[in-house]
Amino acid sequence: MPNQIRLAIMTGAGGVGKTTLAANLGYEVARLGHRVVIFDLDPQGSLNVACRLSKTPAPKATTAWIYSGFFDGTYTLIPVWEQHVSKLEVFQGGSALFKIMPNLTQAGGSYLLQEALSEYPLTHDLIIFDCPATLEQIPKSALIAATHLLVPLMPDAKAVDGTRVLLDWYAANVQELQLSSPPAFLGFVINNVEDGAEHQRLSKELPPRYEARGYRVFPAIRHYTAFTNAWSEAVPLRVHRTTHPALEPIGAIALAIQQEITGGKRGKAKSARR
Ligand SMILES: Nc1ncnc2c1ncn2[C@@H]1O[C@H](COP(=O)(O)OP(=O)(O)OP(=O)(O)O)[C@@H](O)[C@H]1O
Ligand SMILES: [Mg+2]
Repeated sequence: MPNQIRLAIMTGAGGVGKTTLAANLGYEVARLGHRVVIFDLDPQGSLNVACRLSKTPAPKATTAWIYSGFFDGTYTLIPVWEQHVSKLEVFQGGSALFKIMPNLTQAGGSYLLQEALSEYPLTHDLIIFDCPATLEQIPKSALIAATHLLVPLMPDAKAVDGTRVLLDWYAANVQELQLSSPPAFLGFVINNVEDGAEHQRLSKELPPRYEARGYRVFPAIRHYTAFTNAWSEAVPLRVHRTTHPALEPIGAIALAIQQEITGGKRGKAKSARR
């Protein structure tokens, strides 16, 4: 039996490539033959743009429905890029998530996502949670529901500090919530590396620093305008360009996910050592 991997993509900084990775990893893992769904947990609903979906879905057709207090197991999953891949769906996010924020702050609110998936299980091999940038209630619910975390960061001071904040937030929540089986870190990925001196220096210095603390660091992804072009065409990178150097580092992460689906046991990916 394959394991169901629930991968939360989160960071302590905005604009570092969470949605780009969610879309491209979702596509690559679906291409490997696995059933994948991406939950857009971001009120910005950027995935709607990345996949050219309706920007104003009915609230009941979005992930906000899970947090509504009335969830009845109806996941409105929309197949995307069907002409290229058969097993990829999206559960849309968007502004409806703003309205349910008060539910999340109530007692038990952070558990709504996990409870939905336990009470009304999905059969997908991979569920990706595309989290918003700020480490508040929605990412907390994803932390509780996830089996694994993927942390993208850019090699600049702001994103590096955001990663430190994320690691502190992770430790504080694991302790506060007394999570018996906290999500494992699938790894870190340095994304959007430009030619400037700071990016070049940090993209060399950071991997050994994180590896020394027990985290896996995936090969870095350079800055390529092809990502923004693919985004404006609302397709994944591989559809925009069948061969592209960035498909290699993205493929390495997709393979690591596949390993967790087919072989890894929950919690076996390197967990955090602080
Ligand atoms: N490797 C890359 N090369 C070039 N552009 C990139 C790369 N990765 C991401 N981008 C671009 O950077 C912008 C931000 O990416 P994205 O929306 O994926 O980040 P995010 O972390 O999801 O942002 P937010 O915090 O707002 O949710 C997008 O325009 C995307 O196309
Ligand atoms: Mg995003």
